[in-house]
Amino acid sequence: MSTAEIRTVFWQDGQVCLIDQRKLPDSFEIARCQTYAQVAEAIRTMVVRGAPAIGAAAAFGMALAAQQSAAQDSQALYADLQQAAELLRKARPTAVNLAWAVAQMLKSAQSALEQDVATLKDTLLARAQQIADADVQINQRIGAYGAALVPERATIIHHCNTGSLATVHWGTALGVIRSAHEQGKQLHVLVDETRPRLQGAKLTSWELLQLGIPHTIIADGASGYFMRRGGVDLCLVGADRIAANGDVANKIGTYNLAIVARAHNVPFYVAAPWSSIDLSLAHGDLIEIEERSAEEVTAINGVRIAPEGATAANPAFDVTPHEYISAIITEYGVLRPPFAERLAELAARLNERTV
Ligand code: MRU
Repeated sequence: MSTAEIRTVFWQDGQVCLIDQRKLPDSFEIARCQTYAQVAEAIRTMVVRGAPAIGAAAAFGMALAAQQSAAQDSQALYADLQQAAELLRKARPTAVNLAWAVAQMLKSAQSALEQDVATLKDTLLARAQQIADADVQINQRIGAYGAALVPERATIIHHCNTGSLATVHWGTALGVIRSAHEQGKQLHVLVDETRPRLQGAKLTSWELLQLGIPHTIIADGASGYFMRRGGVDLCLVGADRIAANGDVANKIGTYNLAIVARAHNVPFYVAAPWSSIDLSLAHGDLIEIEERSAEEVTAINGVRIAPEGATAANPAFDVTPHEYISAIITEYGVLRPPFAERLAELAARLNERTV
């Protein structure tokens, strides 16, 4: 199996295994977590990153917490799970998939409390596996819906990394690109390098090379140059959280890209699973934005580039207001504005299970 086909997050021999994304593209290594606290730390330090991938890692982290627990009855096991949930949820605040996956695991435990401890542990591991397996299918559905929006011979600007590495497998926005590529559309991807952590230059380029998809890495600030010159057909990005009105929190720089796209009449598409949608928040300004360390800005790969003593700010995400977004591609189809209405309609259909 090529490294491109290995799942980003998987369970093996009682451990949560993660492709160590801090090491790519130079080396391909699997990090193994033996405790749920190690899973939380791996999420915090971005061994694993990308909204759906950290959701799946947290689900397996909860399964690991169950396996580790010395509880003698299901109620005591549930108390241990609540403790693990708190630690895992706090690992990163912006991507709602993390809180979503933890909530799914607690819900599964809650509805199986009549089981004995050993059976409940098995139930939770099966549920985590199901969340991971579903992620792959969901991404492939997003890919199929999204590929229909991609013209033949398209040039696409992509921001951050939204591929197999950001999910369990396949990817969201990059999954759309992969699906369109597999349909034989001849694509060229302009890969935003994505400062400060360079997910585009390091991870997206690595994935595209393995998939044989032609691409060119560009500095984040170059997107305006390329759009003004003409020949960019669309922008495709993922999401960490989408509010009820369609505002999108995603990797820092997404907002700038959306504004430039609007200025040049370039369609701006967001691809995300339903688990990235947070209808409890009316608009994007209510989304908590993670602040990461200044060193991620003042140094690259641990080598200082700014003068000693310089200060830096490092918001990891920004919010793109819904009016800049042409469509949101989900596993249930392509949503067009007005997003508040379309999202509420889809939520109602999902509640009635008519989707
Ligand atoms: O800080 P990261 O690398 O976890 O941020 C990832 C992104 O912003 C992605 O665009 C988003 O999670 C969607 S991934 C399918």
